[in-house]
Amino acid sequence: MPQSRRQFLATGAAAIAATALPRAAGAATVDFVLEAKERPIQLPGCSGPTQAWTYGETWPLALRVKRHQPLTIEFRNGLKEHSTIHWHGLRIPHAMDGVPWITQDPVKPGGNFIYAFAPPDPGLFFFHPHCDDVTALSRGLAGVIIVEDPREEGLFDREELLVLMDWRVKEDGSYDTITTDKTAARAGTFGRLRTTNGKLSPVYQVRPGTRLRLRCINVDSSRIPLLDLAGATGQVIATDGNACEPFPLAAWPLGPAMRADIALMVPDQPGASFELHDVWQSTPVVLARFEVAGEPMPMAGRDRPLALPPAELPEPDLANAVKVELDLGAGLPDPAVLEFQKLFGADEICTTQRVFWSLNTKAWPGMSATGKPEPLGLMQSGTTYVVEMFNGTPHRHPMHLHGHTFKVIGSSKGEQPVRWGDTVLVEPKERLQIAFVGGEPGEWMVHCHIIEHQETGMMGYYRVA
Ligand code: C2O
Ligand code: CU
Repeated sequence: MPQSRRQFLATGAAAIAATALPRAAGAATVDFVLEAKERPIQLPGCSGPTQAWTYGETWPLALRVKRHQPLTIEFRNGLKEHSTIHWHGLRIPHAMDGVPWITQDPVKPGGNFIYAFAPPDPGLFFFHPHCDDVTALSRGLAGVIIVEDPREEGLFDREELLVLMDWRVKEDGSYDTITTDKTAARAGTFGRLRTTNGKLSPVYQVRPGTRLRLRCINVDSSRIPLLDLAGATGQVIATDGNACEPFPLAAWPLGPAMRADIALMVPDQPGASFELHDVWQSTPVVLARFEVAGEPMPMAGRDRPLALPPAELPEPDLANAVKVELDLGAGLPDPAVLEFQKLFGADEICTTQRVFWSLNTKAWPGMSATGKPEPLGLMQSGTTYVVEMFNGTPHRHPMHLHGHTFKVIGSSKGEQPVRWGDTVLVEPKERLQIAFVGGEPGEWMVHCHIIEHQETGMMGYYRVA
């Protein structure tokens, strides 16, 4: 194995953010190797190990790269089923989007695939397979990718990555039920064990007066925490990794796949503490705890604004936008898709035959080699679209669009911060508008990121020409 072709290994929980390996000249160079495989991990409070599916030796795994850095990432499939890697939120070429049968052939067990792209936007993103996701994601098969921007250098004294996930495990560490018809048809199946970076309410020591950035990501498939701080005040400075006009953090919902960067000034009193909470239930759940200790940070530079340089994304031309409707509804199976599913075995499809959800009344319960439904709509590269989503169901849906970063521009539920995103939570009976400029030609998935909803029908795609 050539020297430059190194296995990516994260080194312990404290070092979950890894540095990109330097690129040597030559085509065989890879910056990272991600090998999806079953590996035992020890979850807090469990008497035995959990057979997690991970991309590296530790969980969570975070890659740290530079904006516009050309990356070559080798995916090796050490699972017993086919897989791919989808780079959630990264506006990268269609052929790199990691959707089986749409952008590439699935990678067979023992096979590999080279992903090559240069991340165009700074921020917090993640990656996961796009097949059999109810199983894969509930076993932890996801990783984080942080894209650094030189414009952000020195803006914060410290940052912490907080990866939120519930594990559907029993006390002995073995898996509990990961899906049932009843829960897939409602809010999704919830895990018993709520973790942050694989721990129970981890504690961080922070120096008084620290300009702190919390990069929060929800990699769970069902839970929607309402983020809030107790003992300090924070601002949301980025949504789904993209800088926004800062707004006060107050019960901010973070649906599956969503990210929020929170900025705050650590209180100046040693001995003080503050916590990041999920305030969804009347008794808040402590997601992380911060204890103020040590030497205060120097006074100089403390008054710089706690904000990021503005996002640099294609600005929608709202005056000339084309309006598109997207109806989130209950599902009726498309007879053609179900017919196809009866004909082929598990190698050709990754889906359940259960159908509970739909988009524009069409249900697409999983990916398959052929038998793909018609697109939800045709779009032109460079044209602005306003997609109005209407949630006619009694459940919430975090809706994700591939390959595009959209602006959330309005909601029937009242004022919301205007912000960029790739996944947006649509509340029951809400009408919500997103706007974006049609991107690279290709078929771009749109689906709910409550993975049981996705895999039981709430999935489709736009065809951009
Ligand atoms: Cu993170 Cu198509 O999903
Ligand atoms: Cu949903």
